[in-house]
Amino acid sequence: MLRFVIGKRINYLNTTDQDKEMIDQLIKPIEDVFSHLGAGHLGDYLDFLKPLYSKYLNFNDPSLKFKQYFDDQVLKHIGSLDPSNPQDLLDHLLLEKDTLTNNSLKTVGALAIDFINAGTETSSSSIEWFFLAMINNQEIQNKAFQELKNLNKNNSMITLLDRPNTPYTNALIKEVSRRYSIAPLGLPRSTTSDITLCDTFIPKNTQILLNLHYLFTNEKYWENPMEFNPDRFLNNNNRSDTYVPFGMGPRNCIGQGYASDILYITIANVLLNFKIVSPNGEKVSDKEFFSLTVHPKSFLIKLLSR
Ligand code: HEM
Repeated sequence: MLRFVIGKRINYLNTTDQDKEMIDQLIKPIEDVFSHLGAGHLGDYLDFLKPLYSKYLNFNDPSLKFKQYFDDQVLKHIGSLDPSNPQDLLDHLLLEKDTLTNNSLKTVGALAIDFINAGTETSSSSIEWFFLAMINNQEIQNKAFQELKNLNKNNSMITLLDRPNTPYTNALIKEVSRRYSIAPLGLPRSTTSDITLCDTFIPKNTQILLNLHYLFTNEKYWENPMEFNPDRFLNNNNRSDTYVPFGMGPRNCIGQGYASDILYITIANVLLNFKIVSPNGEKVSDKEFFSLTVHPKSFLIKLLSR
């Protein structure tokens, strides 16, 4: 995500001073913001507490550090921008600046931050659930491995071009995001006018939540919904009626194509190269931990080279 948005990546294995600075200025503050947002505060619901809550945020805003980091990045990108050869999303946003509703540099920085916020924890939580599902379902893991091995990649990486030839792996990835929904209530919307939906009257300005968890785990739509079973997505059965992990409508996830690609490349290459087990050989608890997204409680993974 960082490479896509600001053209940088963090090397976690051999951290340089620049990597450490990015972890300190960017990654840690983002994690703080997510756990803050996911915690739920009385000020979110009780109107009379809202002014106090805003004051508290002014004094204790964990996002200030990474806002500053992005303001600096905007200035650096202005300095190095080559309009005929934009390098990353921030360069593209700078080139489109005049078409933005509020064409300020602050808006450019804020949009870049939106992408980082919306794209990092969502993808990493999905990958955490993938590891958990593989530890707990060794037969399924093996079946996907056999499919990927049959591609005969001879030490080269699996790419998006291989996707049409790996239906079981594709189904496995879908099953991870159905069984373990990382955004169980999507993003909140509100009605812009009074509306009657299926005989229910909903007044203007009502907050609406899209209950994806209910859609994905309802016996009305899925056989044995709590079972992890990629077979349900085989034979081009994309279940687009009730399988909508990226939300619905004109404000659905803007990053869904990118996220699907990243998940495929990461998951397929990990499965091809490693057997995923837990260090003690036991199953891992799938109890959820609520942050901005839902992810599993931390657990240990052992990767055995294939
Ligand atoms: C597995 C990964 C991801 C999942 C499951 C996911 C899921 C979602 C969901 C459920 C929504 C709300 C849609 C609705 O209310 O109908 C959403 C919105 C959004 N997502 Fe994602 N997302 C993922 C990755 C990403 C990535 C990688 C990016 C950026 C590159 C991104 C950017 C956004 C943005 C900007 C919105 C708000 C769209 C709007 O309000 O118009 N997401 N996402």
